[in-house]
Amino acid sequence: MKYTIIIVLILLNTSCIAQSPDPYMGIIPAPVSVKRTNGEFIYSHETHVISQLENNRAMNAYLNFMHSRDMETKKLSSAREGGGYENTITITEDGADALPADGYKISITEKNIRIVGKGAGLFYGIQTFIQLISQNNNYSMVIPCAEIEDYPRFPYRGLHLDVSRHFFSVAFVEKYIDLMASYKLNNFHWHLTDDQGWRIEIRKYPKLTSVGSKRAQSRVGRYGPDSTALFDNTPYGGFYTQDEIKEVVAYATARYINIVPEIEMPGHSIEMLAAYPELSCEPDKKYKVGETWGGFDDVLCPSETTFKFMENVLTEVMELFPGKYIHIGGDECNKVAWKKSKYCQQFIKEHDLKDEEGLQSYFIRRIEKFVNSKGRSIIGWDEILEGGVAPNATIMSWRGEKGGIAAAQQNHHVIMTPGSGGLYFDHRQSKSDQEPLSIGGYAPLEKTYAYDPVPAVLSAEEQKNIIGVQANVWTEYITTEQKVGYMLLPRMLALAEVAWTPPSNKNYEDFSETRIPQQLARLDAKGWDYRVPVAIGLKDSIVRGSEFNIELKPSVAGAKIYYTIDGYLPRETDMEYIKPLHLSVPAGKEMIFQTIVIAASGKRSIVTKTVLSNK
Ligand code: ACM
Repeated sequence: MKYTIIIVLILLNTSCIAQSPDPYMGIIPAPVSVKRTNGEFIYSHETHVISQLENNRAMNAYLNFMHSRDMETKKLSSAREGGGYENTITITEDGADALPADGYKISITEKNIRIVGKGAGLFYGIQTFIQLISQNNNYSMVIPCAEIEDYPRFPYRGLHLDVSRHFFSVAFVEKYIDLMASYKLNNFHWHLTDDQGWRIEIRKYPKLTSVGSKRAQSRVGRYGPDSTALFDNTPYGGFYTQDEIKEVVAYATARYINIVPEIEMPGHSIEMLAAYPELSCEPDKKYKVGETWGGFDDVLCPSETTFKFMENVLTEVMELFPGKYIHIGGDECNKVAWKKSKYCQQFIKEHDLKDEEGLQSYFIRRIEKFVNSKGRSIIGWDEILEGGVAPNATIMSWRGEKGGIAAAQQNHHVIMTPGSGGLYFDHRQSKSDQEPLSIGGYAPLEKTYAYDPVPAVLSAEEQKNIIGVQANVWTEYITTEQKVGYMLLPRMLALAEVAWTPPSNKNYEDFSETRIPQQLARLDAKGWDYRVPVAIGLKDSIVRGSEFNIELKPSVAGAKIYYTIDGYLPRETDMEYIKPLHLSVPAGKEMIFQTIVIAASGKRSIVTKTVLSNK
């Protein structure tokens, strides 16, 4: 019997995309509308820019990109726009008022390119233009003619980074922000504090960093409740000074990215207790900064001392971060200490609260009142619904969508970020034992891509409360920048499309087989680590038959696929897959077909193993 293992062979042509069957011209996230027309615009050293915009963030992004490509930008004065010049790019706000919020338009003809937008919209237009032009080499950049109209599905398009469990440098955080900007994400959720380390300088409370940012050692391997835990016996620490925070905020603002700082309370706070035990319910106890993952029983005590302390901390935080939102955590607050505490039990009675959940609700409401009094709003994880939600809070729904649905029904704004929706990027990307250590879970690219943040159970009116979507990068098991890249990419590109693209334009095959390979090659050239997807067209499985046609495509543009049929692990010394293979397996036998994808940079995929069985 003749058997075919998914036959899709589209040769990638990286020098010219004019014949690309991809309706979205390689762009991620896929735009709202792309209409291809005939011809190409050739971008060269002779291309002139026409713009009246000075000191403009979109214009700066354009100039920086050209500079990075060694392309000198020649400017014509805006007065000459429409003066019959050819080989020009006009970057303008004229006509932007008619566009949807944060939208842009690009028209590309053989003679000219025109990019129209205002503020963030124009910046996104430039990002799209950069993606179009990046698909070609430096000196003859060919862009197919088209009319592109585009705007985002959600106003909040978020990505999180936990810098408490492992600390990441300012340079890396800025690289992360650049990556977000390239794919039109606009909210960086900076998880700055947690049990395992406080990472932001607070001038009024220096021990938060001198004590709270340092742990004596870290747990090795996957965390579990076993008594045989190993530790690395290596002190770990790090924090950002206020000057560094200001630098990052300015960097993000220049790229239309708002930073949402997270200061965890009342749980996930043992590092604060290590520095200031008076914030706990047992001030005489000795606390240490967390050395294991998971939660701790000791949390902030809802005392006047604690409220005053947190108000002072938040005052400094709000001076550093100009955005609307302050994330106050609120998740996984263990109630053990509050149950044991006479003070807390008395407090519950005196304030007519139902129980410890009521006390948590009191805590969050009181902090919200303070934050609101400064003209800002809080975001909290969905636990803050328990015991009654603070009146103006935005809810981040992480334990599935239940909390988000309840909050939307109560007319609260919601950001969807459920682990069950493929949005926890600390989950593993395949079931192979070749994947690196992760927290567990299972979030392959396809799952992230398929996620829709708007639950169908909500009414049309309630659905409007879903203001966006976010993915989270928790770093208990992500110790290096390289591993952040591995866990983030390519899933972050799926997040971008979930957050931006109308659902009717989503197309996983086009995304994963055509656009992802191009984008990964581009990110590789920019120094990003990423998970090299397995060869397109094949996966671990058993296929039965006697004759097998195998057609594959590399998952990264320019990568090579190597294979073996002798049972040994494939490497670059093995046979290279060049063209479709025909393999025959005699009756009663089986053949093991194994592949690896190796990118031009040397980055490698996991090995896939397919049993071709005629047994
Ligand atoms: C969370 O993952 N604990 C918000």
